[in-house]
Amino acid sequence: MDIKEDIKTEENIKTLIYAFYDIVRKDELLSPIFNEVIKKDWDTHLETMCRFWSTMLLYSRTYKGDPMSKHIPLILSNEHFERWFLLFTETVDKLFQGKTANDAKRAAENIGRIMQKVKGINTKN
Ligand code: HEM
Ligand code: HEM
Repeated sequence: MDIKEDIKTEENIKTLIYAFYDIVRKDELLSPIFNEVIKKDWDTHLETMCRFWSTMLLYSRTYKGDPMSKHIPLILSNEHFERWFLLFTETVDKLFQGKTANDAKRAAENIGRIMQKVKGINTKN
């Protein structure tokens, strides 16, 4: 078994986020949703996501935004959230291990669950 590092630096966040969205962009369920909204501006989206996760996990306070309002207009089912979380967890586990890696998975799960609840009427099942 190989020993993995924990998530500790901005570089680690970048590695995680780029790896995760590489997989999302190839996922037949999730990619159409992202491609429709993000179009060709993936660089901007990835930079935003790095700032979000660095604020969450490294307390950098580099993200200023309102993620909830960006997800309200999207038509997302529970299946979308489950897939998103599965791919996120798999990516974290493939690359990192430790307390912050576990925090990342827990935060993603909890935020995803709140998003699903708040979205309510836009959730198909
Ligand atoms: C089914 C699951 C999800 C899908 C399909 C999805 C899709 C998207 C899309 C299309 C955008 C771009 C919105 C825009 O620029 O207008 C976005 C932004 C974002 N998402 Fe998600 N998302 C999902 C779950 C999550 C979860 C669970 C989190 C947090 C843990 C999250 C955090 C964010 C953040 C921080 C942004 C950036 C918002 C900003 O521009 O400030 N997303 N997401
Ligand atoms: C869709 C919007 C958001 C939701 C639903 C949400 C929800 C949550 C939840 C449930 C946790 C606890 C995660 C856990 O440890 O299990 C959390 C943690 C955290 N959130 Fe948010 N959040 C949102 C947006 C934001 C934004 C915009 C920021 C910063 C600009 C932020 C900063 C943080 C930080 C720094 C933590 C970690 C706190 C700690 O480790 O003690 N969150 N959030």
